[in-house]
Amino acid sequence: DMMKDVSGLKDMEKQLKAVLGISNVIIVSGDSDQYPLVKNEMGLACIREMERYINAENIIAVTGGTTLAAVAEMMYPLKKSRDLLFVSGRGGLGEQVENQANTICAKMATKAEGRYRLLHVPDQLSEESYQTLIEEPSIHEVLHLIHSATIVVHGIGDARTMALRRGSRQSLLTKIETENAVAEAFGYFFDHCGKVIHKVKTIGLQLDNLYDDRTVIAVAGGKSKAKAIKAYFKEGPNSILVTDEGAAREVLKL
Ligand code: F6P
Repeated sequence: DMMKDVSGLKDMEKQLKAVLGISNVIIVSGDSDQYPLVKNEMGLACIREMERYINAENIIAVTGGTTLAAVAEMMYPLKKSRDLLFVSGRGGLGEQVENQANTICAKMATKAEGRYRLLHVPDQLSEESYQTLIEEPSIHEVLHLIHSATIVVHGIGDARTMALRRGSRQSLLTKIETENAVAEAFGYFFDHCGKVIHKVKTIGLQLDNLYDDRTVIAVAGGKSKAKAIKAYFKEGPNSILVTDEGAAREVLKL
């Protein structure tokens, strides 16, 4: 029955929190691999967590992906807050436009009745363009906002799936295979031990930005992401994980 279900999920949340060594885990029922609408439930759960941590002034950095798109889809006015500024954590990342951080950021901000700032840069950069762009005042300003984020909301993906989805070079696909990369988040690839094996040279959110005094919410579900979730949190920053039953059950089995 319903009550039993809920208490089962509560138990799993506790177990998962201990296994991953993070501050909080929220599990919604179902498996988003099988039922895409489960992503909307994760989206809602994520927004409720965001509401718990918003203060008078907030800078909320967001990344891309279909799960973050579901957070934006479910967003509603966050009235409690006086000042709500959403900022894109990343440029394009080779995603389809509806799944890019900029699109998601603008939609989320509009629905939350907040403001937004976008990051207008291509995601993969040469050293030379990187150095030039980083000096650009408008970009510098957005980067400063990202570094000052009070809340970061990001997705986690399976390494190979993400490399293929972005049409990455064969050399990266080979590296993923030979170095056993299993997880991807904001352009970083991680192996089973949570070690970074590859990082996209890009302007935007960096792993370092997830430490210090801020609230980090990772939203990722589906049985197929279990390995990625487990690996990412081996070394990952203390976070709140919003996930689904499909991923949770599988992580606990690994
Ligand atoms: O490309 C942006 C991104 O947030 C990745 O860092 C992450 O691996 C992926 O999207 C998750 O995508 P999805 O929510 O569609 O599984």
